[in-house]
Amino acid sequence: MNGSIKKTALEDIIFSFLPPREGYGKRVREAMSQAVKNGGKRIRPLLMGGTYRLFSDGDEERERRLLWPFQASMEMIHSYSLVHDDLPAIDNDELRRGQPTTWKLFGEGMAVIAGDGLLNHAYLILARALLGLEEEDHKRAFIRSMERLAHHSGVDGMIGGQTADILLTGKIPSPDEIDYIYQNKTGALLKASMGIGAILGGAGLEQEAGIEKIAACLGMAYQIRDDILDVESSPELLGKPVLSDDKNNKITYVSLYGMEEAKKEAERLGQEALELLVRISPEKGELYALMEGLLHRKK
Ligand code: IPE
Ligand code: IPE
Ligand code: MG
Ligand code: MG
Ligand code: MG
Repeated sequence: MNGSIKKTALEDIIFSFLPPREGYGKRVREAMSQAVKNGGKRIRPLLMGGTYRLFSDGDEERERRLLWPFQASMEMIHSYSLVHDDLPAIDNDELRRGQPTTWKLFGEGMAVIAGDGLLNHAYLILARALLGLEEEDHKRAFIRSMERLAHHSGVDGMIGGQTADILLTGKIPSPDEIDYIYQNKTGALLKASMGIGAILGGAGLEQEAGIEKIAACLGMAYQIRDDILDVESSPELLGKPVLSDDKNNKITYVSLYGMEEAKKEAERLGQEALELLVRISPEKGELYALMEGLLHRKK
């Protein structure tokens, strides 16, 4: 599939990798499907595809065999992180993507294991796709991407950020601590998405590092925007509760630095991300448009 991809076509690809909702354990399979199919902007697989197409030569077979499994796995890992983030033990939220959260629909126990199920399934998809590869350079790019995915999703990435987010609840984080939280709880999966897009698309090491730097700026800007929307938006527009951070005694960029400063910082980081992208790819194509849209998102 050449050129940019429509969100619905991308969703068809992602959903095709979900386990069937039948057999023993049907209930958890239903909860897993709900957690992925319940909407969502799909920004991570979209960013992965946009970055991939910066470097790839348009070989459709390569896209299907390499990119698609990672796009599906990434959205499953992201969706699991949201299922767990919404649990009473973490953010205790009842609305996600315009629907009751997975724990509200299926109960807490089922939401815990549906999250576990999605995380496990993400790597099963990848292992199976890897078994079907024959060309050595495809295998190398695939295994390196698996390592990046596990790294950025784990204790040195998203889970590390969520850990600090939980431990600093009710406390005033230092500037370094809040940056650590944002770079990891949100930035890490964006780094993985864009970094993997670059690797699979055939980027060199230097280009890959450049892309990760862009993703780091974008991730910070994205989470600051999330904090702004948590204050300024509405549940109808956002599809999730507003004032969740305040309810949970979470200090955010907005409460720490003030709304005006937070908006300035999000804008500054967003512009930096776009400028860095233009240095790698001067023509403002699919990825540029996607990033620009995310920086000014309303939901
Ligand atoms: C929500 O992620 C959690 C954050 C990192 C801010 P998204 O804003 O990508 O949520 P969905 O997937 O579109 O629902
Ligand atoms: C969550 O950050 C990031 C994750 C890793 C799940 P938030 O707690 O701010 O995300 P929302 O506002 O619930 O989407
Ligand atoms: Mg949270
Ligand atoms: Mg939350
Ligand atoms: Mg939030």
